[in-house]
Amino acid sequence: MRDQAEKLRLKMENPKLARSIAVVSGKGGVGKSNFSTNFSYNLSKRGARVLIMDMDIGMGNVHILLGESTQHALSDYLLGNCGLEQLVKSYLPNLDYISGGSAMTSILDWNDLMLSRLLNAFETLQNAYDYIVFDMGAGATEWTLQLIEAIDDIIVVTTTEPTAIMDGYSMVKYIHMNCKDKNMYIVVNRSLTLEDGKFALKRIKNTAFHFLQENLKILGSIPEDMNVRKAVQQQKIFSVLYEKTAATKALQDIVETYVLGQEKRQMI
Ligand SMILES: Nc1ncnc2c1ncn2[C@@H]1O[C@H](COP(=O)(O)OP(=O)(O)OP(=O)(O)O)[C@@H](O)[C@H]1O
Ligand SMILES: [Mg+2]
Repeated sequence: MRDQAEKLRLKMENPKLARSIAVVSGKGGVGKSNFSTNFSYNLSKRGARVLIMDMDIGMGNVHILLGESTQHALSDYLLGNCGLEQLVKSYLPNLDYISGGSAMTSILDWNDLMLSRLLNAFETLQNAYDYIVFDMGAGATEWTLQLIEAIDDIIVVTTTEPTAIMDGYSMVKYIHMNCKDKNMYIVVNRSLTLEDGKFALKRIKNTAFHFLQENLKILGSIPEDMNVRKAVQQQKIFSVLYEKTAATKALQDIVETYVLGQEKRQMI
């Protein structure tokens, strides 16, 4: 299966195919799903065709954040109960999503058939989009690693709390040890001040470099912003609802940095 993932990734180096991004964290609840939806939306606003894939299977909340109810979830497809065409939902122009499902439709044990179906779907979808953003569940398992093997870029999201930074670093280490040649980026969410954000980014970047010689690229920090919560309550993307709020500006900046293939140097 690792071979299939590896082959898929090599094929993806064809620039006509979608670039794939996995949004991961060590600790749960740091803001991955909100980051994934808003990052995807801001990418789509620049004219790119974007697909969000909710990989938090059985506990997915991308569709909830988007205020949608879905008939088919990724688990149905993986179990062979529906086709790919029934799975992809259009949300906004240039922005589609696939629900992870929230019925605890317990896919507790991944098997090779499911992973193979997932990689086949991925292969087909690559032709239809410019970016595919995978919103991963917290932590990592063996099958997460196999999927990550097929993905181009990993964005590690953490908050500024020491516990989240530590768990974020552990995630970086886990991916570093198990997958080769990954572009890894970091985003710090819910920073209380610019300094607080910078400190957390610097700490995780320096630690990864010191212990792993892994060069994490800094994408930036997103401030603690009341409007994020308000948008979650209203089940809307915060960048849609609050175009001028601080978190939206930070997201636009992060998307710009990512698209230009840069790193936020002034943050270090
Ligand atoms: N920048 C922010 N400012 C204020 N609140 C935030 C911010 N980012 C996230 N939150 C809050 O944190 C909550 C959790 O965010 P989210 O669901 O995106 O985390 P997650 O990492 O996807 O969680 P899980 O690990 O369970 O999948 C949100 O519902 C929101 O209330
Ligand atoms: Mg989530």
